[in-house]
Amino acid sequence: HTYLVVMAGGIGSRFWPFSRTHHPKQFHDVLGLGRSMLQLTVDRFRGICPPSNVFVVTNRDYTELVQQHLPELPADQILGEPIGRNTAPCIAYASYRIAQRDPEAIIVVTPADHAVMHEENFRAAIRTALDGARTHNVLITLGIQPSRPDTGYGYIQFIDEPVQPQHVQTAPGHEDGVFPQELRKVKTFTEKPNLELAKMFVASGDFLWNSGLFVWRADAIIQAFHQYLSDIAEVFDEGWNELGTPEEENFISRAYTRCRNISIDYGVMEKADNVYVLPADFGWSDLGTWDSLHRMGHHDADENVVDGNALLYDTSECVIKTPPERLVVVQGLEGYIVAEYDNVLLICKRTEEQRVKEFVADVKSKK
Ligand code: GDD
Ligand code: MG
Repeated sequence: HTYLVVMAGGIGSRFWPFSRTHHPKQFHDVLGLGRSMLQLTVDRFRGICPPSNVFVVTNRDYTELVQQHLPELPADQILGEPIGRNTAPCIAYASYRIAQRDPEAIIVVTPADHAVMHEENFRAAIRTALDGARTHNVLITLGIQPSRPDTGYGYIQFIDEPVQPQHVQTAPGHEDGVFPQELRKVKTFTEKPNLELAKMFVASGDFLWNSGLFVWRADAIIQAFHQYLSDIAEVFDEGWNELGTPEEENFISRAYTRCRNISIDYGVMEKADNVYVLPADFGWSDLGTWDSLHRMGHHDADENVVDGNALLYDTSECVIKTPPERLVVVQGLEGYIVAEYDNVLLICKRTEEQRVKEFVADVKSKK
């Protein structure tokens, strides 16, 4: 009954120009390992979830790319979205579709753009979360020890003591379920706080980052949609009989125009009272930005991270990612991003990288 839902519909605009509308970062071999982010994501669940239970949700423009990257995936398990409506509708679509096929389904939801260094620890954490979710009406997220006041994450405050079994609601028919000791009850969930708050959270030592990896029963998350995003639940309730039939595509086209653009973090995780966190440590990073690549990548003696054919002079603290056929010569740069992909070249201070989204908007409006 274990299912995997890969959310692969983002356009990764903070990674521009490497991540582009026609080829977003999840389809790139960002880490230079010979596998795309999407392939690495599915690989990581080997032994936990067979291809027959893997679903990928993405924009309809990318369904063929997904097929190429994951040829072992049955075509009807690539769920195409007509428009991006953020992660709440994406998760609703997949959950309803899976629940219809298997009412006892337990779902792991994963982003498609993360790096994990310790895969064995990762799988152990996922198994623990699955054990808790299988028999309980809970929403589980995996929590990561924060290392800086990053405002791009969700922050989780939890009760640092084992959960009393009588306080956790079991799932119908699973009254004998044992709740894993390692899970903690979430007190507050704050999505993308401002910098001041983020600094307080990190300094207090009481908070974890939300990894964006979630584990829950299909019926538990559908119930949460009814409670906290009832407008979205209503849309998918109406289409129940069309899911999994030839009518599905039409239904989804209509459904998405009726769905709000909202993330699961704002829509459900901040509000629900049955959220639990599994504190975990598996060398996690969100490869969301150029800076994250600088942190993750292999540093040369001058703290540059270079992927490309580059000759550097008096250059330090830079991220350089250029096509292999391009020879790049750089002199005297400190703390810059130099990135080229498909005829677009970006040269930008690393400390100003949050402006990349603004540049993308300007480029699009000039087209
Ligand atoms: N199918 C689909 N449709 N996927 C989407 C959509 C969509 O409309 N929007 C985003 N995604 C995918 C992205 O491709 C990514 O894999 C994942 O969903 C998360 O979306 P992001 O846009 O990267 O979210 P975020 O990084 O701002 O925040 C989330 O992740 C953080 C950790 O990396 C939140 O869950 C935060 O709380 C969390 O800390
Ligand atoms: Mg992200």
